[in-house]
Amino acid sequence: MTSDALVEASIETVGHQVTPFPVQEPETKCVVGWKGGIGKTTLAQELAYLDDGVGGDMDWSKGGLSKGWGYNEETRTGAPLIEAFENDRTPKPLRGGPRKPDLIPGHSTFGEFQPSPEVVKRSLIRWSEELKRKITWDTHPDACPSTHGALAASRVAVVPVILQTREMASLEHLLQDISDYPLLLIPYMVPKSVPTWHKDELKRLAKKFQVPVGPIVSEYKWVGVRRKRVAICSEPVFKKEELFVEQMKRVHQAVVRYGN
Ligand SMILES: Nc1ncnc2c1ncn2[C@@H]1O[C@H](COP(=O)(O)OP(=O)(O)O)[C@@H](O)[C@H]1O
Ligand SMILES: [Mg+2]
Repeated sequence: MTSDALVEASIETVGHQVTPFPVQEPETKCVVGWKGGIGKTTLAQELAYLDDGVGGDMDWSKGGLSKGWGYNEETRTGAPLIEAFENDRTPKPLRGGPRKPDLIPGHSTFGEFQPSPEVVKRSLIRWSEELKRKITWDTHPDACPSTHGALAASRVAVVPVILQTREMASLEHLLQDISDYPLLLIPYMVPKSVPTWHKDELKRLAKKFQVPVGPIVSEYKWVGVRRKRVAICSEPVFKKEELFVEQMKRVHQAVVRYGN
């Protein structure tokens, strides 16, 4: 075990035992996109962490928030999210400790069991109120009932935008579908140089659909190969992570200020 992993493991153990859940102004928000691999899960995890909040996992595809957090459904007997909807009961988040957000874990079968948008909307709002927590929901990359429910429940829905041709065509579809929700576009994984066409296309779409564009997050090669489960924004922040953390904190501020 590396010293990093050892520190991580001990922080988790101590964190679970001693820190009580904070009491917060309840709030529901989500991260959405009609494509996989665009940064939804990373944004959901980091924004939930910066809130000192809860990450909720409504994506059932592999490699999502729960797995990245260290939750293994294979070693668990239940499916907390599915049971919460089925029994109309508020799920109890798992404690993340000082370096991870708390977690309402998802399940690989949630796609088959997701309730109607109306039920999802009502439940998500009630859960954040009952838990007195800020909850950021990661969503499935489809216009499915649970994503529509999350959108309807959210004060703000963050949409990562990849400045590439196909991704921007997919963004236009998304905006045609859901620009009546309170969206915030975040140019994400932005490379060092972006062709003018893609910048102009983002401006065109933002103007056409009247959707605000927030601060950017650059592309960092090390993010994709990172194996740690703790939030990137959690202390200690290593030198190479500093700019990412700065950018993510600016995104978080834009999310906090959204609509105010
Ligand atoms: N800012 C970034 N720069 C480079 N790679 C990133 C960045 N953010 C996330 N990634 C990586 O990109 C991949 C897709 O990100 P992820 O958050 O899983 O997207 P999604 O949830 O939309 O599928 C992952 O391998 C992730 O580690
Ligand atoms: Mg994801």
